[in-house]
Amino acid sequence: MTPHINAKQGDFADIVFMPGDPLRAKYIADNYLTDAKLITDVRNMFGYTGYFEGKQVSVMGHGMGVPSVSIYVHELITHYNVKTIIRVGSAGGIAEDAKVRDIIVATGAGTASATNRAKFAGYDCPATPDFALAIRCHEKANELGLDVKFGNVFTNDLFYGCDKNLIPALQKMNILAVEMETAALYTLAMEHKIKALSILTISDHVITGEETSSEERQNGFNDMMKLALATGC
Ligand code: ADE
Repeated sequence: MTPHINAKQGDFADIVFMPGDPLRAKYIADNYLTDAKLITDVRNMFGYTGYFEGKQVSVMGHGMGVPSVSIYVHELITHYNVKTIIRVGSAGGIAEDAKVRDIIVATGAGTASATNRAKFAGYDCPATPDFALAIRCHEKANELGLDVKFGNVFTNDLFYGCDKNLIPALQKMNILAVEMETAALYTLAMEHKIKALSILTISDHVITGEETSSEERQNGFNDMMKLALATGC
């Protein structure tokens, strides 16, 4: 056990799929896995282990923001020996061609969070995914006939009231979308030499103000989940 996870050692599979929302983790376990068992429920941050097409996989929520995802990812890696983590989350569109309902894959993440610099002698750590996993995701997207965009995202610390100069800078640099966890996941994965990838659906557009209905979010989520499982399994 760890302070935030009450699973036993050996309860997690080598690969963990992580949505922000613990009830999404339950949805994935209920709808995609066979023989799924609840293995952790501290603070209702549910985690399950089951099987997808014969391969043992786990799914667990990571909460919102860098501190939350950092705690769960750190404990999964250092205590439960997890080797691959695929985030399946949502993001706010920034680029014109990152439309609501689109699936994007983060090939790099800038961040407002001080945690990456704190781990990197005060410099900006290049937060990038595992290259082989990103390539495999690209191949699987083509096989599944999914139109998926690969590009950079920005991991922000503020959902509300962010710096007014930030959005134009993100647009200028052709950042696809803003979200709140990927840079921390990638940096922790680099530090501990595990594989990580962040697959995201655009749930809202920061510039146009467009939003998705909960039904549309669910459909988009299902396509993203198919891609994530095909990539990881
Ligand atoms: N996740 C989904 N939409 C977001 C937004 N607009 N900003 C930050 N994170 C998000």
